[in-house]
Amino acid sequence: MQTMKLNSGNDLPVVGFGLWQVKNEQECKEAVRLALETGYRHFDTAQIYGNEAYLGEALKVAGTPREELFITTKIWNENQPSARLSASFDQSLKNLQTDYVDLLLLHFPVTGTRQQAWHELEKIAKAGRAKAIGVSNYTVRHLEELLADCEIKPAVNQVELHVYLQQPELVEFCKQHDIVIEAYSPLAHGYGLDNPVLAELGQKYGKSPAQIMLRWCIDLGTVPLPKSVHEDRIKSNIDLFDFQLTDEDMASLAKLDKNHRTCWDPTEVA
Ligand SMILES: NC(=O)c1ccc[n+]([C@@H]2O[C@H](COP(=O)([O-])OP(=O)(O)OC[C@H]3O[C@@H](n4cnc5c(N)ncnc54)[C@H](OP(=O)(O)O)[C@@H]3O)[C@@H](O)[C@H]2O)c1
Repeated sequence: MQTMKLNSGNDLPVVGFGLWQVKNEQECKEAVRLALETGYRHFDTAQIYGNEAYLGEALKVAGTPREELFITTKIWNENQPSARLSASFDQSLKNLQTDYVDLLLLHFPVTGTRQQAWHELEKIAKAGRAKAIGVSNYTVRHLEELLADCEIKPAVNQVELHVYLQQPELVEFCKQHDIVIEAYSPLAHGYGLDNPVLAELGQKYGKSPAQIMLRWCIDLGTVPLPKSVHEDRIKSNIDLFDFQLTDEDMASLAKLDKNHRTCWDPTEVA
């Protein structure tokens, strides 16, 4: 699996395995087992997903060496206040059966608590309990506020990003500040997979529309986090490294942007 160097110095595999809405214990453990078998090493969970413990157990059973794995979790909004954040992270590590995560994110730019919460993440990073720290659902405005008052810069901003929500300003801002964008809902949660532009490019490369959407994220320099609990999709969602979109392909895909959000919208968050 190809990796990208984060500003924290560690390497991020360029495709991650999403775990949102994988709540059933058996389903989660089986999906993680299949993902590992297929070659995924990067797993994206969160306190609010309710499956950190299932992921931790599945990884332990598989026995993949810890240093080969890249594990991300996210501090849930109500755990942002300083009095709760550290204890909630202790519980996450316990759930995940590890003594560090590779990436720890603030899940959302919560008004009033996010800056203090960032300083708590800095302490966790300095203690070596998170190799990298970052944010999620931050707009340019939220990032500017953070960059003006931080000791450690965020390594990652995880946001909704796909061909129907391309966020060019945010992508450019992050690039300029050496912040990697992780693309969540890279398949737009299943929306628009029947678009003829995707079908045409799929035909050109012998790939599915979903694979074209995921490759678009990679060729944009971002890291897609597709989620599936089905073996055929788990396999095809990582089978992206035997082709590359041309500038012309990227230009036709640029036209699909329609600011279509499938998840939450942080643009109005003060
Ligand atoms: N930070 C945040 O606030 C945030 C928010 C949302 C998501 N995320 C992260 O991003 C990950 C992915 O986002 P997501 O789960 O919203 O959406 P997604 O990956 O864009 O789409 C997942 C949906 O598409 C289906 N699917 C998967 N592969 C497919 C394929 N090859 N062809 C057709 N359909 C396919 C899945 O169904 P099956 O499972 O039935 O195959 C599921 O219904 C999450 O799991 C989570 O880790 C983060």
